[in-house]
Amino acid sequence: AAELSLRPRYLGEYIGQTKVKENLTIYIEAAKMRKEALDHVLLYGPPGLGKTTLSNIIANELGVNLRTTSGPAIERPGDLAALLTNLQEGDVLFIDEIHRLHRTVEEVLYPAMEDFALDIMIGKGPSARSVRLDLPPFTLIGATTRAGLLSAPLRDRFGVVSRLEFYTVDELAFIISRTSDILNAGIVGEAAIEIALRSRGTPRIANRLLKRVRDFAQVRGDGIITQEIANLALELLQVDPMGLDSIDHKMLHAMMTTFSGRPVGLDTIAATIGEESQTIEDVYEPYLMQIGFLQRTPRGRIATEHAYRHLGIAYPDR
Ligand code: ADE
Repeated sequence: AAELSLRPRYLGEYIGQTKVKENLTIYIEAAKMRKEALDHVLLYGPPGLGKTTLSNIIANELGVNLRTTSGPAIERPGDLAALLTNLQEGDVLFIDEIHRLHRTVEEVLYPAMEDFALDIMIGKGPSARSVRLDLPPFTLIGATTRAGLLSAPLRDRFGVVSRLEFYTVDELAFIISRTSDILNAGIVGEAAIEIALRSRGTPRIANRLLKRVRDFAQVRGDGIITQEIANLALELLQVDPMGLDSIDHKMLHAMMTTFSGRPVGLDTIAATIGEESQTIEDVYEPYLMQIGFLQRTPRGRIATEHAYRHLGIAYPDR
């Protein structure tokens, strides 16, 4: 419950993602004026940037119920049919990790999204027939780490497609101060910026680091989060000054030494450091590319000169 109340509940409290917020404000207002369900919304971008939070906010702003599920949780078409037939007019159905929907389930979703209709097969074999059930108009919000993983027919059925961006240091510092207020933790401005600098553009990471730093301030200090306490705690948490953790370091280190700076494939990197390829691609690479430490080339991934300098390894002269 404490975790949920940290999240903003209305667009006015939501920091960052200015463009997405501006657009959604208009679409929500227009849908309410017309007393219609909001068009289906696809939110995509790296984990921790607020896709779930935004879908909660959209439902709150519309004044409707929110039903939450995820792609892998909907195992059979009947599971989706049960969710859809329990919606009330205008409700929001949030499907996280929508790229992981089963094919058979996805096919039930198409007519539901397009015509608010559910096609149900009755019987088997030659006497089988399909009946069409009407659904109340609803809004589907889909979330995914990469829109490219969605099938084209599914992607095409979203009227609003929004990409969430990494947050700026100032936005993160603002979020950290807001969370500190809610947690009743005193924090100096410099400490909020220090945590923000090391949060990889991601509010979820910022709030997690803040909680750990607060623990240090309580036990080692007088409860106030100073810059000194923040630096000490973040060093012990093995979060470096750019926000890179031990997995980023292992990855870059392997690319620079084991593979001598030659282009390397994703699966090779993953196997070398013992991580899932998917995790590296969804969680680690986007930020390393954003800060200009990693490049994708047709022949594989390479670390940039910036990355070499950051790790203190000599850049190979070619
Ligand atoms: N907490 C997590 N993400 C947030 C955001 N974007 N705005 C305000 N508080 C947040």
